[in-house]
Amino acid sequence: MTDFKELIAEAIYDESLGLSAEEIKEIIEIPADEAMGDYAFPCFRLAKTLRKAPQMIAQDIADRVRGTEGFTEVENVNAYVNFFIDRAYFAGQVVDEVNSKGAEYGRSDVGQGRKVIVEYSSPNIAKPFHIGHIRSTVIGNALYKLYDATGYDVTRINHLGDYGTQFGKMIVAYRKWGSEEELAKDPIKTLLAYYTKFHEEAKEHPELEDEARETFVRLEAGEPEEVELWKKFRELSLAEFNRVYDMLGIEFDSYAGESFYSDKMPAIIDELEDKGLLIESQGAHIVDLEPYDMGAAMITKSDGSSLYVTRDIAAAVYRREHYDFYKCIYVVASQQNLHFRQWKKVLELMGCEWEKDCIHVPFGLVSLSDGDDIKMMSTREGRVVFLEDVLNTAVQKTADIMREKETQGVDIAEVSKEVGIGAVIFQELSNNRIKDYVFSWDKVLNFDGETGPYVQYTHARASSVLRKAEAEGTDVNHLNDFDPGYLESDSAYALAKLLYRVPEVIIEAADKYEPSILTRHLTDIAQAFNKFYHDEHILTDNEDERKAKLALVKASKTVIANCLGLLGIGAPERM
Ligand code: ARG
Repeated sequence: MTDFKELIAEAIYDESLGLSAEEIKEIIEIPADEAMGDYAFPCFRLAKTLRKAPQMIAQDIADRVRGTEGFTEVENVNAYVNFFIDRAYFAGQVVDEVNSKGAEYGRSDVGQGRKVIVEYSSPNIAKPFHIGHIRSTVIGNALYKLYDATGYDVTRINHLGDYGTQFGKMIVAYRKWGSEEELAKDPIKTLLAYYTKFHEEAKEHPELEDEARETFVRLEAGEPEEVELWKKFRELSLAEFNRVYDMLGIEFDSYAGESFYSDKMPAIIDELEDKGLLIESQGAHIVDLEPYDMGAAMITKSDGSSLYVTRDIAAAVYRREHYDFYKCIYVVASQQNLHFRQWKKVLELMGCEWEKDCIHVPFGLVSLSDGDDIKMMSTREGRVVFLEDVLNTAVQKTADIMREKETQGVDIAEVSKEVGIGAVIFQELSNNRIKDYVFSWDKVLNFDGETGPYVQYTHARASSVLRKAEAEGTDVNHLNDFDPGYLESDSAYALAKLLYRVPEVIIEAADKYEPSILTRHLTDIAQAFNKFYHDEHILTDNEDERKAKLALVKASKTVIANCLGLLGIGAPERM
């Protein structure tokens, strides 16, 4: 497809300007005011080289390049040369490009030959997969898809929280109060109940804490009895997590969690020691980060057991050696900012200059609309909202809405899954990720707002127009060779412009680790499509006009489906 900026740059290029076509391209702007054209070239930078007023330069250039193919008008306003795109030429190009590329439209190869790791979800074993986890899971999955779509070779890692002193507690509690049968019935809720009971009992019997610590030390030393119980908890928990991942359509390439690094930690501790970074403090070992205003990073406890940050250092070093990544992305809540700053600093002090390629992508908190702050939810007291319950509720509520709407010919049981779960995912990805947000059913499931159901409904509407055209005898599979002169209206042009920008929006969303950039653009496309649908008579009797408009409908449907796919959301044909 024509790169319009390039077209302009090539037309403007002239040796006397002292700028390459590439440099000219970078200066070209998109005016905020449409009356100033679709693109504008400011001439201020040329004034020095040419020793002339920028207004005069702009005028010379405008006179010289007027008549360039693809533009109906080239105007000079002050120091700017403004370009007005030939709408028919433009729409023809965009629609052809989308319809010939189909599912590939939007993809690029800017990342070719580069390896990216996206680490996301990473729940803690034997603890509930609660609504707070959904953000990491859903944002991480979208980032994986965005990086994949821009040509990177991506590895998805679930850094399971499957290690640490809490397993000592869990094992002690299970041995004292647990039973095999109880556990098999509802593993995570049962393990959570044991964990809760442990903390209640420990208030009265603080010696339980020592027992738990000793048990974890035995686990770390590989004592078979403890290892076996730990494995059982891990397997049962993973089976439950996988149920949620299946509902969300999410997969991982590796489940190497914290425990994976247990045998890699001694080498890290030795290295820290050798480099003179470890300080003994009351039996524990720390790296002093006070000079950087980051407190201290505790590397080993006084009983010799390792910590979260130790495992993260080992994980980074391992990944660097094993994957030789261009970037390693950690999608983890902003509550862990200090942890990640400390961890990066320790890596830097160790001389790992590649730590700059490790990127913490933080996100804000979710809270419930009734004021129930999710962060306040304490697993110790067992007060949690399970993600699986949220997803099931979304599906159920969607089915209710669809039944009320009396949607015809729709398999409500099937479609309500796609729409209900899609609605939750879309909501997660529609705000700037760093913002805290309040979860509210009314907002999530609104079919008319800036929501998943609205965008999916737009896709179903486009599908329905194409079905109708087909029923009336138009071959919607062969819509090339249309007359783009029928796509010059404001609403058709606005829609075509949004479709054109999709590949660069995808690149930008990946570069900024911000799926909401794509979510917002997708909402704009859905709105522009609906405006076109309302403004224009699509299935007219004029064969040529009908064909051109259907080609745009088909391109819109394809782009909406592709973008929903990149967000991890389905695109129903009917709803
Ligand atoms: N398991 C941790 C939690 O649920 C998140 C792990 C984040 N990743 C990391 N490499 N530290 O809080």
